[in-house]
Amino acid sequence: MHATLDSTTVLDALRVVVDPDLRRDIVSLGFVKNLSIDRGRVSFTIELTTPACPVKDLLRDQATAAVRALPGVSDVAVQMTANVRSVSAPETGRTPLPGVKNVIAVGAGKGGVGKTTVAVNLALALTQCGSRVGILDADIYGPNVPIMLGIRDTQLVTDGKRIVPAEKYGLQVVSMGFLTSDDAPVIWRGPMLHGAVQQFFRDVAWEDLDYLIVDMPPGTGDVALSLSQTVPVAGAVLVTTPQQVSLADTRRAIRMYQKLNIAPLGLVENMSYYACTNCHHEADIFGHGGGETLASAMEVPFLGRLPVYQPIREGSDTGVPLVLAEPRSPAGRAFMTVAERTASQVSIAAHKNAEANKGKIPLIPVR
Ligand SMILES: Nc1ncnc2c1ncn2[C@@H]1O[C@H](COP(=O)(O)OP(=O)(O)O)[C@@H](O)[C@H]1O
Ligand SMILES: [Mg+2]
Repeated sequence: MHATLDSTTVLDALRVVVDPDLRRDIVSLGFVKNLSIDRGRVSFTIELTTPACPVKDLLRDQATAAVRALPGVSDVAVQMTANVRSVSAPETGRTPLPGVKNVIAVGAGKGGVGKTTVAVNLALALTQCGSRVGILDADIYGPNVPIMLGIRDTQLVTDGKRIVPAEKYGLQVVSMGFLTSDDAPVIWRGPMLHGAVQQFFRDVAWEDLDYLIVDMPPGTGDVALSLSQTVPVAGAVLVTTPQQVSLADTRRAIRMYQKLNIAPLGLVENMSYYACTNCHHEADIFGHGGGETLASAMEVPFLGRLPVYQPIREGSDTGVPLVLAEPRSPAGRAFMTVAERTASQVSIAAHKNAEANKGKIPLIPVR
């Protein structure tokens, strides 16, 4: 007869399974839940910190194998779930945004690099992984999110007190563009800008979001300052193109976010190479590796490269973003990689914060 199979034995066996992002085993991380042992049948849940976890299948397989190898086990059933943790930093004193676990700013040094394209496809890719996602279009100079989602005629709706997000493709959406007609430019100045932006950042009835993607205006500026003063931000995704001029602007943008205490989650190189629609040939028309080199020089994670690909542009114009139109194309998979790496960086930041705050008494936030 073999030793009795108990929960300690099973948990000990599961310590070989390590979360590659957090670099700790899933047992000491507290990810193993609902363990039940019924004679030889073992079942449990592994709760990851994001549903967009690229190694989900690998972790499931490793856990299954580790438990199956124990004497007396006849059957192993593993359920994978996720509970996105918040990168909350209580010491900042900024009140968390109700209904939102993590605010992710998508920024760039300048316009035209594909910031909105990345923001929209990132949001949708995270949704496809099973996360709850919102998108806030804070680009006061060019609020293009409604066009890219095909909801350009949407008007701002309130419930009397708060702005109610529109819904499209499973996303909750609020845009500065809901306030204005197509061609009326909005010229915001000083305090009015800050007030409007604060209202957009604070007074929205978001419902139960894991990630709120904020499409920021380009460059260095007021909106980023307002954002940093108004809500806790998990971090910023910076979009660049490979040309030297864009990289130089991106360097400045990274510094600006760091100054505002918004940690860069990583760098995305958009329009990185040309992907031919017909023959799928790929060409590095702007040179190779600029984004990656900048990322490592600035000690910022590199989140991936996206091709110049005609259907990406077409999707922006028709309101059916590429990750919905062609999820399995190389470009669709490239967006998915960016989303997974972004989610990983949020998990890592949340974990580091939680470790740093262990034992500290959270401050009561003052508004
Ligand atoms: N990877 C890409 N391939 C093809 N077209 C792209 C790509 N990224 C962006 N575009 C197109 O370039 C234009 C500018 O992109 P946009 O996301 O609006 O930039 P930004 O928000 O930085 O100003 C849009 O027409 C968009 O469809
Ligand atoms: Mg834009």
